[in-house]
Amino acid sequence: MQSIKNRSLISFLCEPSETTLAVENPATGEILGHIATQSRDEIGAVIGRSHEAQKMWQKRSAKERAGILRRWFQLMMENQQDLARLMTLEQGKPLVEAKGEVAYGASFIEWFAEEAKRTYGETIPAPMGDRRLVTIKQPVGVAAAITPWNFPIAMITRKAAPALAAGCSFIAKPANQTPLSAYATAELAYQAGIPRDLLTLVVNQSNSMIGEVFCSQPQIRKLSFTGSTQVGRLLLAQCANDVKRTSMELGGNAPFIVFDDADIDKAVQGAIASKFRNAGQTCVCANRFYVQDGVYDSFVDKFVAVVKQLKIGNGLDHGVVIGPVIEEKAKHGIQALIDRAIQQGATVAYGDTPQPGLFMAPTVLTNVQQDMDIVKQEIFGPVAPIIRFNNDEELIEMANDTIYGLACYFYSRDIGRVWKVAEALEYGMVGINEGIISTEVAPFGGVKQSGLGREGAKQGIDEYLEIKYLCFGGI
Ligand code: SIN
Repeated sequence: MQSIKNRSLISFLCEPSETTLAVENPATGEILGHIATQSRDEIGAVIGRSHEAQKMWQKRSAKERAGILRRWFQLMMENQQDLARLMTLEQGKPLVEAKGEVAYGASFIEWFAEEAKRTYGETIPAPMGDRRLVTIKQPVGVAAAITPWNFPIAMITRKAAPALAAGCSFIAKPANQTPLSAYATAELAYQAGIPRDLLTLVVNQSNSMIGEVFCSQPQIRKLSFTGSTQVGRLLLAQCANDVKRTSMELGGNAPFIVFDDADIDKAVQGAIASKFRNAGQTCVCANRFYVQDGVYDSFVDKFVAVVKQLKIGNGLDHGVVIGPVIEEKAKHGIQALIDRAIQQGATVAYGDTPQPGLFMAPTVLTNVQQDMDIVKQEIFGPVAPIIRFNNDEELIEMANDTIYGLACYFYSRDIGRVWKVAEALEYGMVGINEGIISTEVAPFGGVKQSGLGREGAKQGIDEYLEIKYLCFGGI
């Protein structure tokens, strides 16, 4: 932590006690620091204060809210290096990726600062001459969020920025594994002029307690969650009681498809970026590869040649591409999927070599079949199972054969095929000749059991707004 130059970013750290949470570096196992946790009652009080703060915030003009958000964005970019170091220390991703995430996270704040001024209503031609009909948009109220450890900053800002821009207050529970960079980001929000009660972070050893409080407290009108489909289902059920608004960004099982007519070098480049970003720990990572007969051997050879070059290690070390996975449980789960695939007939084309601590070798599996567990489940680790396919119809069936529908990718240069395949894939996001598709300007989200709602883009702010219809009579 000595490497964090702006000490105000870690001013929330405290002495260890029974009510603090210890945060560990997954690359070294070292304890980085401790933060205070909040009890059920304390979180109740935070919600009460947030409710009051929201009433004041919504009275401020959109232009004023936009100005404060813009200042927050600038402070994040000024502190990009420190925020990134903090993130690498607690999350493990390579420093270059962490810097990229800080910029990505900040981009949502910049974007929604701009969108704050564009929450337009409508005038509607009335069916009677003596009436005038209009709609206005108003903030939902207090919004709560539960965010994951894989993108400790961006998953907070992708929710907080539209909420605050819309005039909501915002309470988030960052992941217990990676709260430090989230707290540092909130600190910059306060320095930018966002009142403390308007944006609050809470943590507790018990994730389920916080989930229950968020879902059962009537003052919270909206819950946004990024995490597993399993937990998303539970939260949706708990929110049903109060009929709360929800946004759910849940699990994925992204197919990455390479057709015979693809540019193979570009496909390999896209596959590496899509599969190994954050050591394979993203919801949109390629989870299973489908490669057509005619290019199968050349794709596998070229892909393996690049995978061999990927350097494993501490994300702070120069040239490292594959950092550790987040925790022991994750490493076991990923290894169990590899072992099962081998038992079921897959071949290790590269990798699967033992690594110390939480590190894992990037691994490529061939001779993979559609019915193997590794194809059905989200791997969330640096493993690439490759399936051979023959024709487009068979491919579409296999690619859609999942409960998930977040992201998918395919490489082809045939314009007719590109349109047909893009339309047939049952996913919220499709990368065509591109392995990295996330950006603040496009709607991020899934279909089927990958979630509800969209984040980022012009649609993102609507998740925090209610539409009110005004009917003026007797004109
Ligand atoms: C995620 O894995 O949930 C987010 C990935 C992204 O925003 O690109």
